[in-house]
Amino acid sequence: IATIKKALPLTGVKVMVTAGPTYEPIDPVRFIGNHSSGKMGFALADEMARLGADVILISGPTAEKSTQQVYRIDVTTASEMLEACKSNFGDSAITIMSAAVADYTPVHVAAQKIKKATEEFSIALKKTTDILFTLGQTKTKAQILVGFALETNNEEEHAKAKLIKKNLDLIILNSLNDAGAGFQKDTNKITIFNQCLEKTVYEVKSKTEVAKDICTEILKLRPA
Ligand code: CTP
Ligand code: CA
Repeated sequence: IATIKKALPLTGVKVMVTAGPTYEPIDPVRFIGNHSSGKMGFALADEMARLGADVILISGPTAEKSTQQVYRIDVTTASEMLEACKSNFGDSAITIMSAAVADYTPVHVAAQKIKKATEEFSIALKKTTDILFTLGQTKTKAQILVGFALETNNEEEHAKAKLIKKNLDLIILNSLNDAGAGFQKDTNKITIFNQCLEKTVYEVKSKTEVAKDICTEILKLRPA
């Protein structure tokens, strides 16, 4: 019996995906983190693998399980995520940055557990490197770079500004104001902007379905 073998759209194409939060240590027992579950990034990695891509998933601390079809690199801090991304970006045809990277990290990490003392207490923080911006600076014409924007107000303006500033091909806007969207949930509601600032609004869907929508938009950017 003759079998017709149809090539998948992304066979042999390297795709890098970031997912999850980062944890920035304060002392041996504490960190600054955020509510990102990693679900969206893991769904994107799975969908890219289903389309035939060789997927590298760079993940912050998460309870999500990756499938055998993706090559996973676990990191903890924003600085570790930056290094892993820089090492893998060069030969990635498509990069999707869905991680919720900490914007600030403690200036000093205490060697011992900090004991409570004064009524008020503050920790000095310094900015982390914007990984997506850094990659956008070195992006070639052959590469597709996709970012996320999480906003609570003036969502569309902020998202479009990030698309331009970070030199992205697409930006996926997640609005925390939308019911059914956001952290820890199995559903999401997105709006996508392309480089022409054209907008596509999607319904609330499972993160698996949202991942399919995002991948469909990315495939449209690739030369036929
Ligand atoms: N991002 C990144 N490195 C950082 C911070 C953010 O790569 N240090 C990426 C995220 O993965 C996401 C995009 O930048 O794809 C936008 O993240 P977001 O937090 O919405 O925007 P920021 O540029 O950090 O601005 P702000 O938090 O002030 O809105
Ligand atoms: Ca941020």
